[in-house]
Amino acid sequence: MNTILVGAQWGDEGKGKIIDVLTEQADIVVRTQGGNNAGHTVFVGPQKYVLHLIPSGILRPDKVCVVGNGVVIDPVSLVGEIDGLEKLGVQVSPKNLIISETAHVVFPWHRELDAQREVRKGQGKIGTTKRGIGPTYGDKAARVGLRVVDLMNAKRFPERLRERLQENNEVLRALGAQTVDYDTVLRDYTTAADRLRPFVANTVVYLHESTRRGANVLFEGAQGTFLDIDHGTYPYVTSSNTTAGGASTGSGVPPNRMDRVVGVMKAYTTRVGEGPLPSEDAGISDLLHGLGREFGATTGRARRCGWFDAVVTRHACMVNGIDELAITNIDGLDTVATIKVCVGYKVDGTVLRHIPADVESMVRCEPVYETFPGWVTPTDKATRWEELPDNCRHYLLSISQMTGARLIIASVGPAREQTIPV
Ligand code: GDP
Ligand code: IMO
Ligand code: MG
Repeated sequence: MNTILVGAQWGDEGKGKIIDVLTEQADIVVRTQGGNNAGHTVFVGPQKYVLHLIPSGILRPDKVCVVGNGVVIDPVSLVGEIDGLEKLGVQVSPKNLIISETAHVVFPWHRELDAQREVRKGQGKIGTTKRGIGPTYGDKAARVGLRVVDLMNAKRFPERLRERLQENNEVLRALGAQTVDYDTVLRDYTTAADRLRPFVANTVVYLHESTRRGANVLFEGAQGTFLDIDHGTYPYVTSSNTTAGGASTGSGVPPNRMDRVVGVMKAYTTRVGEGPLPSEDAGISDLLHGLGREFGATTGRARRCGWFDAVVTRHACMVNGIDELAITNIDGLDTVATIKVCVGYKVDGTVLRHIPADVESMVRCEPVYETFPGWVTPTDKATRWEELPDNCRHYLLSISQMTGARLIIASVGPAREQTIPV
């Protein structure tokens, strides 16, 4: 059984937690897009882990994790992530982590360009994570990127690095930005390459052979549907395909080998960074921030919060082919007496049931709300569906129905035990 897991909103839906739960039934967990812009939080007992580039499956011994060809890798940061996990007692070796030789490499000039473009955009900035993601995917599309194979080739790498660095330094100089020092990058990247070499393999062939042998593969989506470069709220998006199709292109496992798509969504909505968020609500933001919740796992920024938006999740269901849903952070609404759900957008006197293509129109959309009675009872101790309050079950089934997929998991806390099968 090959399962694709995607975020159905704007990222941070709790994918890491649900991946960790579903990994129990998987043999291999694969990241297929994005880079260390992602921050996936998993609790194992009291220990908190935040995974950025390494699949969340790494926390379960005996599972193999793959960083696929569609991912962009900052090798220095990846070595740091491996070291950080090992310090916490998680073993990471070529036995449980395999890195694609055709993934593209993030360089310091990508991060600098990312930052420069944001500054130049001023008010119109995207609010990126400044990890160099956009410029790296830009180079990939422009066919000037360096890949892991280039990094691993000790003979060719210094030369390719010099070419790319020269061109990028010219751009950085013209922008009045800090240029990048060749010797420093060569040293840091060569050291990282030596550490990573044993992990590098042809992941396409590995996944193909594993699936032929009957291995269960779980594809761990990063970011969320509305940060997708094609289907998101462009230009306020990330630079990869975060939707289900990205799992195939980013791994080399073809669409007809995929068996199901699980969508993860919060019981409300959050977004970190700029861009439209029609159901944004200051009251719910204050409530959640007051509880110490909804601060970014990668950048620590406060996430913007709002009511559940069924217009977007229905769209997510359509573009991802979501069959099954996991709803997380249900406990975040435990104290809310009346819960709103956005069921349409009013713009220029008409009610839209679909997202407008133009971000300017989306910003002008006024949400049309339906209300639900809250349960006003703590849910975080519930372990069975029957233990959830009636109003809570009614709310969850209603938003699943509006989204158009079957609810399979209700999550009432960050821990593994706070996961209710439905
Ligand atoms: P991801 O990027 O989709 O993996 O999500 P993040 O890890 O960035 O953010 C989700 C946050 O919600 C993390 O702090 C999780 O520990 C937490 N979380 C996940 N599910 C639940 C839940 O059901 N209840 C609570 N209270 N926290 C949750
Ligand atoms: P996970 O996998 C939430 C957002 C950034 C910014 C936009 C572009 O943890 O859900 P980028 O650095 O990718 O060029 O930034 O995308 N963003 C995320 N928001 N969760 C993420 O990942 C994100 N990764 C990027 O905040 O708005
Ligand atoms: Mg996150």
